[in-house]
Amino acid sequence: MHTRILSIIILFFLIASCSKPSKPTDRMTFVVDSIMNQLTLDEKIGQLNLPSSGDMITGETGSSDIAKKIEKGMVGGLFNIKSVAKIKEVQKIAVEKSRTKIPLIFGMDVIHGYESVFPIPLGLSCSWDMKLIEQSARIAAQEASADGINWTYSPMVDISRDARWGRISEGSGEDPYLGSEIASAMVRGYQGNDLTANNTIMSCVKHYALYGAAESGRDYNTVDMSKHRMYNEYLPPYKAAIDAGAGSIMASFNEIDAVPATANRWLLTDVLRNEWGFKGFVVSDYTGVSEMVNHGYGDLQYVSAKALEAGLDMDMVSEGLLTTLTKSVKEGKISEKQINEACRRILEAKYKLGLFKDPYKYCDDVRAKSEVFTAANRATARSTAAQSFVLLKNEGQILPIKKSSTIALIGPLADSKENMTGTWSVAARFAESISVRDGLQKAVGANVKILYAKGSNLDEDEAIEERATMFGKTLHRDKRSAEEMRNEAIKIAKSADVIVAAVGEAAEMSGEASSRVNIQIPEAQKDLLKALLKTGKPVVLVLFTGRPLILKWESENIPAILNVWFGGSEAGDAIADVLFGDVNPSGKLTTTFPQHVGQLPMYYAQKNTGRPLGNDKWFQKFRSNYLDVSNEPVYPFGFGLSYTNFSYGDIKLSKTEMSAEDSVSVSIDVTNNGSYEGAEVVQLYIRDLVGSVTRPVKELKGFQKINLKAGETKHVSFMILNKTLSFYRQDLTFGSEPGKFLFMIGGNSRDVKQLEFTLRP
Ligand code: BGC
Repeated sequence: MHTRILSIIILFFLIASCSKPSKPTDRMTFVVDSIMNQLTLDEKIGQLNLPSSGDMITGETGSSDIAKKIEKGMVGGLFNIKSVAKIKEVQKIAVEKSRTKIPLIFGMDVIHGYESVFPIPLGLSCSWDMKLIEQSARIAAQEASADGINWTYSPMVDISRDARWGRISEGSGEDPYLGSEIASAMVRGYQGNDLTANNTIMSCVKHYALYGAAESGRDYNTVDMSKHRMYNEYLPPYKAAIDAGAGSIMASFNEIDAVPATANRWLLTDVLRNEWGFKGFVVSDYTGVSEMVNHGYGDLQYVSAKALEAGLDMDMVSEGLLTTLTKSVKEGKISEKQINEACRRILEAKYKLGLFKDPYKYCDDVRAKSEVFTAANRATARSTAAQSFVLLKNEGQILPIKKSSTIALIGPLADSKENMTGTWSVAARFAESISVRDGLQKAVGANVKILYAKGSNLDEDEAIEERATMFGKTLHRDKRSAEEMRNEAIKIAKSADVIVAAVGEAAEMSGEASSRVNIQIPEAQKDLLKALLKTGKPVVLVLFTGRPLILKWESENIPAILNVWFGGSEAGDAIADVLFGDVNPSGKLTTTFPQHVGQLPMYYAQKNTGRPLGNDKWFQKFRSNYLDVSNEPVYPFGFGLSYTNFSYGDIKLSKTEMSAEDSVSVSIDVTNNGSYEGAEVVQLYIRDLVGSVTRPVKELKGFQKINLKAGETKHVSFMILNKTLSFYRQDLTFGSEPGKFLFMIGGNSRDVKQLEFTLRP
């Protein structure tokens, strides 16, 4: 800590260290109490204020509006500020110039890596590899903390079953069980087991809650949902993150039960604190407080007071709390006690991070230079990216491609660096990202030339392309006509052995405020694909996307499809690794790929209805189906191919019945029948056949990713406990119900082996 400061904080620390209470929580209370006793009401309210750094840049910091506020003790934290130099300068204002001397907390959206960028979260989830996912968050935390950041707005754990919603790319897909596993892995990765270390950061799980169920997939839209569905399907991942120790949580933009989440006391206090025992702090989303005025919930003073009362502690950007709470206290609308509680939680977070001991602990120039975007981190990002890719089709074993083949690399995403990192990669170094072209060329070496043509623009409509390539993620629009571009592509395609078509969405076609109703590959690129198919050369579709797309035509016409999502800064190298077979793909989808947008929301864990189609063929009158498309997806949840083939033996049970205190083992043999070594994600689903409330036809309850050499067989078993069979019942208590169950195991949610089992009363 800076020696010149004769701050009240130092004083408290001296006192604190002389008469240290023995238990860590007592020590924290002691320190925070000592600080709070010295604060005025306005200074306490100041701690609840979280502006974005905005125009605050080095050189101007001293005179900017925010700097003045920091000096006056009107700011608790800051986000969107990058680099040790800037952060140090701002922290100095807080700890040296303000009366309170309280350090700021520095936040950022470190979502899937920092400068070494990992695949977008939806892609990462397709690895089904919790160690790998935790490691990606660990590396992100290491890099971000080396660059001054101590708080990240991640993980985003919103379950989404509607591919129109652009933010589906930021989460882990449609399943609450898998989503919960990933949520805790991410929190462990960010926070490690010691938040006071200088290479861990505080996690902020978001967006609490149900944000992914926005009506019509339109961002920020209304959500309306039964409690039963909330508890069983949407809330589990938030709870898992809290159970894993997430230090903070972000309220979502949507309303819940007709009250905006930001001021929803049931959500922020009854469930979060009273039921789940959350001890951290709640921050609003960006202008979430003032947006309640638009929701029609009241004026700024009213909604700010309601938010505080509901359990919100920090206001991101609105300054609703900052500008109205004093007045509300004076008018008796809220009590100072409520402000104290919120202020205490913010100070506790700073204490947990060790900021009172050393406000500059994350401001180490040496670390910033040596620990960010390192060769080792980039290598891990590369191997992780390869694990996120999902092989959707490989007819005639076109893949892997021989390095000696003549390859025509075609498509608007083939030579793009800026788009490789996908949405929410605010710290990325675009210029150093590896494009597909770079990656392939490097892999084949200087003696083999990769032929390249752009082939088409992203979209014929320039306005759409502009919206889809914001934040510097340009695709360098080509001014030539579609025909000219296509002809150039066909020409090189004709002289190649194989065509690799790098097409799909641009990075900013998914993510925040990027909802779409037409979730197909844009028409311009589909026309290109059709023209390429006509050459008669084998076509490999390398698909970039941030959401499930409608791939009906592609799945029927294109022989090989590798879904690479947005793989991160090293995407191009990872794509080369998989296309050339140095890595055998093993990713499995974590969201259903529908055949028509009209099927949305779509998910495997559906209810049966009173008139299910059963095994009958579509179409059946007076059955639950459509006139114009079947109920099937194009690719089901859990689906993904490998260069090798896996077969499943018969499912076995250690016993066919058990009581609630007991356990049972369910197992299966999995064999690699092909000629490559490969990894398979073995998935366990259950169905509770009769319940006091209706249960889904399938629910994921376990998975194991196993590695098998060619010809090898492994026995995979899962332990079933009473907990595995439990759910939130109508009264929202968690427990099981005796009766019959189906246990199902397979390599995806559709193709499973099954056995019946009984839970005895
Ligand atoms: C997003 C959050 C994000 C915040 C801060 C909001 O618009 O909804 O996910 O963390 O901005 O950048």
